[in-house]
Amino acid sequence: MPQNAPAPILLADYSPYPFQIDRVHLTFRLDPEATRVLSRLEVTPLDPGRPMDLFGEDLKLVHDSHNRPKLAINGAAIDAEPLDETAAPYAKGIRINARDIPNEPFTLTCEVEINPSANTALEGLYMSSGMYSTQCEAEGFRRITYYPDRPDVMAPFTVRIESDEKVLLSNGNPTASGPGWAQWEDPWPKPAYLFALVAGDLVAHSDAFTTASGAHVALNIWVRPGDEHKCDYAMDALKRSMRWDEQVYGREYDLDVFNIVAVDDFNAGAMENKGLNIFNAKYVLASPETATDRDYELIEGIIAHEYFHNWTGNRITCRDWFQLCLKEGLTVFRDQQFSGDMRSHAVKRIDDVLMLRARQFREDNGPLAHPVRPESFVEINNFYTATVYEKGAEVIGMLKTLVGDAAYAEALDLYFDRHDGQACTIEDWLKVFEDATGRDLTQFALWYSQAGTPQVTVDDQMKDGVYLLHVSQKTDPTPGQDHKDPKVIPMATGLLQDDGRETLATTVLDVNGPRQTFAFYWHGDAWQQHAPATPAPAPEKPTPSLFRGFSAPVVLVRDTSEAERTVLLAHDTDPFNKWEAGRGLAKNVLIAAIVDDAKAPDTWCEALNQVLTDGALDPAFRALILALPREDDLAQTIHQSGLVPDPSAIHAARRRIKGELGAALAPTLTRLFEQMHSAGPYSPDAKSAGKRALRGAVLDLISLTDGGALASDLFAQADNMTESLNALTALLAAGHGAAELDAFYARWKDDRLVLDKWFMFKTLYAAPADAARATAEITTHPAFDWRNPNRFRSVLGGLAGNQAGFHHAGGAGYQVYTDWLLKLDPKNPQTAARMATVFETWTRYDADRQALICAQLDRMAQTPGLSRDMTEIVSRIRSA
Ligand code: TRP
Ligand code: ZN
Repeated sequence: MPQNAPAPILLADYSPYPFQIDRVHLTFRLDPEATRVLSRLEVTPLDPGRPMDLFGEDLKLVHDSHNRPKLAINGAAIDAEPLDETAAPYAKGIRINARDIPNEPFTLTCEVEINPSANTALEGLYMSSGMYSTQCEAEGFRRITYYPDRPDVMAPFTVRIESDEKVLLSNGNPTASGPGWAQWEDPWPKPAYLFALVAGDLVAHSDAFTTASGAHVALNIWVRPGDEHKCDYAMDALKRSMRWDEQVYGREYDLDVFNIVAVDDFNAGAMENKGLNIFNAKYVLASPETATDRDYELIEGIIAHEYFHNWTGNRITCRDWFQLCLKEGLTVFRDQQFSGDMRSHAVKRIDDVLMLRARQFREDNGPLAHPVRPESFVEINNFYTATVYEKGAEVIGMLKTLVGDAAYAEALDLYFDRHDGQACTIEDWLKVFEDATGRDLTQFALWYSQAGTPQVTVDDQMKDGVYLLHVSQKTDPTPGQDHKDPKVIPMATGLLQDDGRETLATTVLDVNGPRQTFAFYWHGDAWQQHAPATPAPAPEKPTPSLFRGFSAPVVLVRDTSEAERTVLLAHDTDPFNKWEAGRGLAKNVLIAAIVDDAKAPDTWCEALNQVLTDGALDPAFRALILALPREDDLAQTIHQSGLVPDPSAIHAARRRIKGELGAALAPTLTRLFEQMHSAGPYSPDAKSAGKRALRGAVLDLISLTDGGALASDLFAQADNMTESLNALTALLAAGHGAAELDAFYARWKDDRLVLDKWFMFKTLYAAPADAARATAEITTHPAFDWRNPNRFRSVLGGLAGNQAGFHHAGGAGYQVYTDWLLKLDPKNPQTAARMATVFETWTRYDADRQALICAQLDRMAQTPGLSRDMTEIVSRIRSA
């Protein structure tokens, strides 16, 4: 950490709050610029003699007619002093002196004024498109009123909203209402970060659900008038999620009503507020004309994710923010299981691993690397990361693999039984597994405390008729962690003979030391781990299929021969490793093209042709096989092999290989394009989506050889957004499509969510040398509402995704990107800091690019008033 870096908050400094909040009563008098929040807390001192610290930011304490602050205990006005740094670094708020606090239960009242219209940070209570909405995770409630805003303080809330807005919503059940007011009661004790309030001119798409034990639940999805016809899919996904959690985890819903609200301005995907989930509108609204298959899939997954939080996050929450993965890792794992059950496990797993490698591995191997459970942070909003979420989910998957499905189910039952209503830690979570299984999880716990992606090296040999797998592991140092211990790594392994016969079905090998050897003996017609009494003559050395299903978040280091990969691609019974073999072949071809100018080998084209024409394979799976590794992935691979990636060369070579592949496979591609056509109306189901995905992947290659003719036709005819966009992206990636892009704008300029896609294409598909200029230009468009996070992310995220454009020599891409981060930061530090993480890969590149990126990092670091969020991210990236 550089010298002027702010001091971090430490896990080791945790101490419990010395008061219990028995009940919270809140009254909101809503006003766009001057909302009054009256709070009445029923409090029991737990450790008499201690002062009471309440967090609060940007609050105006209201004064009475005698100019006394409206802050009172048992009705008597009291004074408070500002919180000092000893309470918690940077925490703003007030401290009530111990001498003013009774030694018995008391009532604390206060009244503050806040300004929702001025709130552009989208944390706390804010206005978005004329409606009131809240976002309190992680520490936004302190922008609403003075409160012990920490997750281990849980209380039941009663909320009264006074406003002329049509719809007034909060957590829990509606208990009373009249003209201009409504009251809500949430009987389940909850931390303040799960508080929510919504008020506005909204309409509901309503339905109902009967729980397994017969309770009736009213379901509503609240949207702006006109959008109510775009909610069917989200509602269907919600009902399927509710049923699934009953059937798979035995978890029922626990209130009379479940509300979801879609809002336009939102910093993330969605938020699991108790009984009142608030969503980024893009993860709710869908119609065949406006949403792609991918959008539908994300809606299903995020609706499930937020719903599943009701048990994993809300009923059982986190003791402190260091434990974030307790709720997020588990809930991601659960939503992945759900999506797999709804669609295809193989395809879902491949998608999840692609994303893990693209985002989490990159994070884990760079300056922002941190453990799944961090031990220090400056700004908690900077820790909603791929490591906490996605690696956190992988850790749970490994635990399940190690203990087995039955023990996992038992442990989860015990978790819900033992900890319902509590704020827990990772230690609590692991203890449940230890108690349920009798296993010692001390070594496994390293997955939570040690950052970095383990590299597992595997060599194999035949020795005296015995097949040996030699396995070793190592993890490179990460910032602040030089020493790494060996981890417990479940290595799901199968063996195949050259003719494709599987001679060892999936077997989980427990890798747990720095180096180990696993032996396999031939018996009958298969390999086994125990030496038979009478040794049989062994056949040829098998091909190992390692880390089946991607059984651990590690990098496999192995000199896999092309012959081995070809056997696995053709014959592996594990779909993940079948795909992985194809992936490995494609990567080798691309690297050879980038580094040595090599052409696409015939053998590779033929192997792909085989897979593509195998009608027994799911089209969605075939589409994944055909999708070549992306430019950023190739840059990372080249970097890890000790070379310096050149983004322009990567872009050009990848495009050339796609063209050669397209030419080699032309007849197959044309045939598949026809075969994958579905007649009839659009349906978002996985099977139809898979056909469209394959059709799109095929079109992408065809468009490099036919001048875009076929894609232009499809664009003109398509009656759904998926095929329109498949056509448009194929055209743009091939250097065509300017007219189509204009037509797309003309058709969709009044639909915010679709227009975001157009904005993204303007930068994502700009010619590399022109990307910076194109970005500067599009940001002058009247519809570029940069305060809207979706719009900002479309344009700037599009630029960052345009690898060759962003990294174009000269640094104009870095410059314009940084200009916009600095403009956004004072308004919305959370989103600015998140977007600044694209620079985490800077050490990969050549000296010129490194200097250009560092100049921008330094420019940000030296900007007066830079937010704490950005200061932390920029200084961590820079210290690489
Ligand atoms: N808890 C949310 C989820 O994963 C995400 C979240 C955290 C969030 N902080 C946020 C959402 C800020 C919006 C804004 O489901
Ligand atoms: Zn979550």
